[in-house]
Amino acid sequence: MSQSSFINQIHSLGLEILPYFTKWYSVLIIAIIVYIGSLNLINLYNSNRLGCKNPPFYKKAGFTGVPALLEAVKRKNNGRLADWADETFDQFPNMSVYLNVCGLLKIVFTVDPENIKAVLATQFNDFSLGTRHEHFAPLLGDGIFTLDGNGWKDSRAMLRPQFAREQIAHVKSLEPHIQVLAKHIKNNNFKTFDLQELFFRFTVDTATEFLFGESVHSLYDSKLGLEYPNNIPGRENFADAFNISQKYLADRAYMQMFYWLTNPKEFKECNKKVHYLAKYFVDKALNFTPEELEENSKDGYIFLYELVKQTRDPKVLQDQLLNIMVAGRDTTAGLLSFTMLELSRNPKVWSKLRQEIIENFGEGEDANIDEITFESLKKCKYLKSVLDETLRLYPSVPINFRTATKNTTLPRGGGKDGSDPIYIPKGSTVAYTVYKTHRLTEYYGKDSGEFKPERWENMPRLGWAYLPFNGGPRICLGQQFALTEASYVIARLAQLFTTLENRDNIYPPRKCIHLTMNLEDGVYLGMK
Ligand code: HEM
Ligand SMILES: *[C@@H]1O[C@H](CO)[C@@H](O)[C@H](O)[C@H]1NC(C)=O
Ligand SMILES: *[C@@H]1O[C@H](CO)[C@@H](O)[C@H](O)[C@H]1NC(C)=O
Ligand SMILES: *[C@@H]1O[C@H](CO)[C@@H](O)[C@H](O)[C@H]1NC(C)=O
Repeated sequence: MSQSSFINQIHSLGLEILPYFTKWYSVLIIAIIVYIGSLNLINLYNSNRLGCKNPPFYKKAGFTGVPALLEAVKRKNNGRLADWADETFDQFPNMSVYLNVCGLLKIVFTVDPENIKAVLATQFNDFSLGTRHEHFAPLLGDGIFTLDGNGWKDSRAMLRPQFAREQIAHVKSLEPHIQVLAKHIKNNNFKTFDLQELFFRFTVDTATEFLFGESVHSLYDSKLGLEYPNNIPGRENFADAFNISQKYLADRAYMQMFYWLTNPKEFKECNKKVHYLAKYFVDKALNFTPEELEENSKDGYIFLYELVKQTRDPKVLQDQLLNIMVAGRDTTAGLLSFTMLELSRNPKVWSKLRQEIIENFGEGEDANIDEITFESLKKCKYLKSVLDETLRLYPSVPINFRTATKNTTLPRGGGKDGSDPIYIPKGSTVAYTVYKTHRLTEYYGKDSGEFKPERWENMPRLGWAYLPFNGGPRICLGQQFALTEASYVIARLAQLFTTLENRDNIYPPRKCIHLTMNLEDGVYLGMK
């Protein structure tokens, strides 16, 4: 076939189908343009009517938003997502910026305490968790962490009393786990080791004990040559399975409405393993007689045993326990790891902290462990400052977001000087980045990037500019619990070890942001 007849053929073929082709094709394009155009016109009309102006547009995102998404993925894989947000907001002094995915989905990013307060508190009912329930349901079902509306209200009402002060005072149950943790550290003989890995195991051990009544003892390993103190079916798999499941939950959350694309076999299998162990404990508790329940609650506070007094629905019990586990376990491990990283880099802070602990509770073998209580830990002001400062620089949830349930507004950040409200159409996303809020020089001064616990000694009221535990009706239920556990662990380590050496950690650390933030590379220390 000659070249020209080939072209002729194509040509005539093209001409034959062209009328049909252009018809549906152009109708579709015109329909989309009209749809997007009218949507944006209505939005503009609503926005003007309410006296709103947009904040600066994030130009790098383009029309589709895809370039910004790709950049975010790159930074995330580098361990630099939070630092990227930090740098980027330096270009936006009025603390809010937006992008618009193909003209269809408006996403406003804000670090402005006034706007965060609106989303979390004063306009609480204008916002929801969006698709979080669908993202997390395969592992977490229906619980306080995943539900909105009445389901959330009921969960909160049921769980809240369990977090009352007296009930979180049981620091004593932590000590046996500290003993095992300290054995691991001592076994390293001042050689370099990763403390974060041990903290992850420590917190899964303490969390399972507090929630289920028995620990999975993931810290007991062959290196220690200790007998397992209990025998729970499926225990060996639990810590790893929970870890892997959580990673997939985070992946699904990042996928937003395309979450269903992330549903691999490994995820399902790990969920099964986690559910298996949770179910074992729930069934066990449901089979207790009231007397047995009292007997087992006697020497410590067990969450499951208290919940069983309120509901006997096994699914409710399992879901709520796993919800609390997700909320409380990695967050605490992260806080402990970042604290020890900063203490190892700041010998003066470490020795000042040790001094406070030793004055109050003694040291080494002479430590007065019995005197370390919820109340007495509160008196250790410097310890509290160290933890506050760590959570400022490394908030466990550095980036969070809410979805608008109706057409609404944010109070500030719009217009040229940032003083106008911002229009938020129903369904759009408001992402708030406390990681940056905690580093704003307006609130924390020129040295806001530095670790200085002393700054908390005479800090002016910060209000919504300091928000490691969130605020408003969904404020963290475990705040006191977490601070008490972290204080106890740091105090005990300060008693047991005099020397803390930083061993070549990258600084500022690379951060891994799954559901919560921890150290991408671990925390390498020498301790004796
Ligand atoms: C360093 C430790 C912790 C930090 C920084 C922290 C932070 C947070 C944050 C930011 C939220 C809000 C999440 C959102 O609404 O999107 C939250 C919620 C929650 N946290 Fe914590 N948390 C910590 C430890 C704990 C612990 C140890 C527990 C339980 C034992 C716990 C239980 C909860 C619960 C149940 C919620 C959901 C509250 C609700 O939605 O009503 N947290 N936490
Ligand atoms: C919200 O705004 C959309 C357009 O953005 C409009 O179609 C809808 O009617 C508005 N809803 C209310 C309740 O005003
Ligand atoms: C869980 O995963 C984190 C990183 O995602 C890792 O640092 C940690 O060691 C893991 N913990 C366990 C108990 O497997
Ligand atoms: C917006 O930023 C500019 C430049 O930093 C500042 O002068 C102005 O006061 C800011 N507006 C508001 C409302 O904070």
